[in-house]
Amino acid sequence: MKIRSVKGTADILPGHQAAWRAVVDAAATALGRAGAGRIDTPIIEYAELFERSVGESSDIVVQKELYTFEDRGGRELALRPEFTAGVLRSFIEHGMFTLPTPVKLWTHGPLFRAENVQRGRYRQFHQINFEIVGLDTPLADAEAVQLMWATLSGSGLRGHGIKLGSVGDPEDRAAYNQYLRDELTPRAADLTPVSQERLRLNPMRLLDAKDRGDIEIIAELQRPLDRLGTAARDHFEQVRGYLEAWGVPYEVDPGIVRGLDYYRRTAFEAHYQGIGAQSALGGGGRYDGLLAQLGGHDLPGVGWALGIERIIDALEQEAANDAASQIAESPTPSSLFLVPLDDEAVADAAALAHTLRAHGKVEYAYQRRNAGKGLKDADRSGASHAALRGPDERRANTWQLKDLGSGDQREVGVQDLVDLLKAGSHGVMA
Ligand code: HAM
Repeated sequence: MKIRSVKGTADILPGHQAAWRAVVDAAATALGRAGAGRIDTPIIEYAELFERSVGESSDIVVQKELYTFEDRGGRELALRPEFTAGVLRSFIEHGMFTLPTPVKLWTHGPLFRAENVQRGRYRQFHQINFEIVGLDTPLADAEAVQLMWATLSGSGLRGHGIKLGSVGDPEDRAAYNQYLRDELTPRAADLTPVSQERLRLNPMRLLDAKDRGDIEIIAELQRPLDRLGTAARDHFEQVRGYLEAWGVPYEVDPGIVRGLDYYRRTAFEAHYQGIGAQSALGGGGRYDGLLAQLGGHDLPGVGWALGIERIIDALEQEAANDAASQIAESPTPSSLFLVPLDDEAVADAAALAHTLRAHGKVEYAYQRRNAGKGLKDADRSGASHAALRGPDERRANTWQLKDLGSGDQREVGVQDLVDLLKAGSHGVMA
């Protein structure tokens, strides 16, 4: 019997790698230029890290999405379901509070949540994650949103939109939660079990309900943005002011609530219509208090994460004008396929390929080919050029270079092949 991949996990096949890399490169450029340092944290952490950070009413806890296991030493470990907790754990462990603030960190990699699998919702998925630690000014929130926007635009996407809201300060949240409790407790029996659990633990999370009946019940109620305290409202208006000044398009969403409990004040999401029900490309917000909750100094923070699978799904929808998919599908400008026309030329081709790979992408036929078959192999490999060698070329120490686009052919030496690859090397992929 064939062994298949685990449901909700996926292979990233060679055909998708270029688009994948274009997205990560766009993030590296946008975030690196903003002064963010790249960090990598382990995939496994103590389960307690997430139990203490994501919140008891988060989807991850309520819907039991954390993959936990006990190792042979009896330690309770977990596969990370998000980056923020691990990045902050690392921040504390490595004394980064001594660094000049703000500390800006970014990362990307795989995450794990035991989700109900559907389009855009997987059990192993990947994020790009960005955090700014140490700034409580609204300017930091606005910059975080701007960088999320810039990362998506830089990856070639055009149709994305930002939704901006605020979940208020802890006092505002408590007052809003009390308001929801007062309104909804009499009707609790009409809510789904998940919403009943949310009503008990953190009523605000009810606004994320997906069930039509639940949505109808809460439709008439006020949103967190309608009930902000003065400080949170002022903060929110300042974030808006910056975004408007910079021309970052966004729309206000008064009911934005996030799936994780640690947010305060600013909350935002990036969306894309046309990739199914899971339209959120990413989300984030301010999380003052979280660092202290994890045993660190009481430094404020703001950050976000973008889901790579969903960005690629969106890019594919925009394929016509999509740089990433053009990179994925077009052959590289100058790459070479060497065709040995006799047995002796096989060794020549192998040796030359190993030398030429210092300058670009070079493949070769591993056995003697006639010219027709060799050119077909070259075409299939996606190379821009083929170089053929038979007894005549060996005697002259040359190759017959054929441009597979134009069909032009000329006899060249090794240096010409080096020059060809060098000229096109900007587009040659590893
Ligand atoms: P999140 O909203 O849980 O936030 O996830 C951010 C993005 O990751 C989502 O919008 C989505 O694109 C992607 N994502 C989440 N779960 C899945 C899944 N099961 N399958 C595919 N994609 C998924 C966070 O994770 C926060 N840590 C973000 C943050 C950073 N807040 C502050 N700093």
